[in-house]
Amino acid sequence: MSTTRAVAFTAAIIASTSAISADVQFSQKLNAEAGTLVLFKNEHISASYPFLHEMTQQQLEKAMLAAQFNGKYGDFVEVLAPTNSNYDRIVIAGIGHINELNKSTMTKLGGNLHGYLLKKKVKLAEVAFDDIKGAIPNSELAAELAHGIRLRDHTFDEYKTSTVSHDLRYLFDVENTEATEHSYQQLMHIQQGVFLARDLTSEVASEMTPVDFANSAKELESLGVTVTVLTPNEMKALGMNALEGVGRGSVDGSRLVVAHYKGSDTPPIALIGKGITFDSGGYSIKTGASIARMKSDMAGAAAALGTVKTMALSKAKVNVVAVMGMAANMVSQYSIAPGDVLRTAQGITVEVVNTDAEGRLVLSDAMWYARTYFKPDIMIDIATLTGSKVSALGDRYAGIFSADDELVTQLTVAGKTVNEQVWRLPLGYEDQLKSDIADLKNIGSGGPGATTAAAFLQHFAGDTRWVHLDIAGNALASKSQGEVPAGGTGFGVRLLSEWLLSN
Ligand code: BES
Ligand code: MG
Ligand code: ZN
Repeated sequence: MSTTRAVAFTAAIIASTSAISADVQFSQKLNAEAGTLVLFKNEHISASYPFLHEMTQQQLEKAMLAAQFNGKYGDFVEVLAPTNSNYDRIVIAGIGHINELNKSTMTKLGGNLHGYLLKKKVKLAEVAFDDIKGAIPNSELAAELAHGIRLRDHTFDEYKTSTVSHDLRYLFDVENTEATEHSYQQLMHIQQGVFLARDLTSEVASEMTPVDFANSAKELESLGVTVTVLTPNEMKALGMNALEGVGRGSVDGSRLVVAHYKGSDTPPIALIGKGITFDSGGYSIKTGASIARMKSDMAGAAAALGTVKTMALSKAKVNVVAVMGMAANMVSQYSIAPGDVLRTAQGITVEVVNTDAEGRLVLSDAMWYARTYFKPDIMIDIATLTGSKVSALGDRYAGIFSADDELVTQLTVAGKTVNEQVWRLPLGYEDQLKSDIADLKNIGSGGPGATTAAAFLQHFAGDTRWVHLDIAGNALASKSQGEVPAGGTGFGVRLLSEWLLSN
């Protein structure tokens, strides 16, 4: 389905090098092979690189001065083929104030460094890491930098006839090889979950139907994940007419996909994913350009599944279940029509005033299923739910809605740590969902759309601790930035994994 271009983190044959996997190696001293040397500089602190020839050091100083480079975070300066050095090029990366350096800024720097070096067609980069001494151990920072490089490097080129693969190798010179490898190992599990979510999101809608998604989920069985798939008839038998109804206009119909990783005996955390493999809007059809991006309307389900994969790979001591409501929201003779009434499994009837507000319909039955069959401690739904959220927060923050202040705080902190930030929006306006004909209608009469959508979902949370994440706008990037390349972003996997592993 996709490829990871080969970024080999490699070291030439030097004694202090060891490997944790086929393509990642860190070492304890510079190799001084011809290639690019990457150095770091703190903001406003004069740099010293005593291991370089004096003339090379002078050249670097001159270049920094000429470029007015002060070590500001994210700035780069370089000199080509410095006299008296073994390198073709030396790049200095600004890291800002050492005390402000943390995991997320390091990951992002790794992504941007990789983008920079690729543009320069660099083949070998030696990264002199052991000069960075901040509050966070050098080994963790180095692992995060490598993580950022790898995350940036993963692209979806399934449909490119000729792919230009690069062969950029990295050699990291770190203080403590073992500690760095240890940190990086855990990050690799997170990468794998992110890559799964990205690939599922980037795949085109006709190749990523609810059935295709269910088959991808089944691949996690080899990791000890229990996967259950319900067909439309099975859902109807349970009364899940909302989830079943949204998929009625497509050939295969809806699926409920459940992926359970039980790494502990505590009650589970349930992750509820919106999995609309294509959102045409249905009879309330989308008329704007946004319809061309609607293969990504299953990104919530992809993030939930990716997180389960990460937990399984890390053998984490957590009990987590992803419950994903999958459907293609299409137009056909069999589709639901505006004005129809659907009875959810919860027993609440819903007037479908607008078939384009389909996400909340599939989530309502998925939330009911999670509560009924798993009795979770906490339920977090993740969904590309509303255009209103995009207007409010854009693509750099996800919207978080919950009555539970503690969970909002925990998830806000987790989001900052991994550079997948959330911003709280209000829950309310529930009075706007009154229907003349049913218990609820699926859109609000005025009022903020992201909030009325959340208010709708709240009816299906019961008394379970619940958080809603609206990731509309976060799921598909149009250009590469930091650790996130263009395409499916996998947004949510790092946030949820960080939260699960630290709480
Ligand atoms: N999938 C869309 C939301 C969306 C918009 C995701 C932009 C990503 C980018 C959702 O199903 C939708 O169509 N929402 C409507 C709801 C409206 C009809 C109440 C919207 O936000 O416009
Ligand atoms: Mg829609
Ligand atoms: Zn949608």
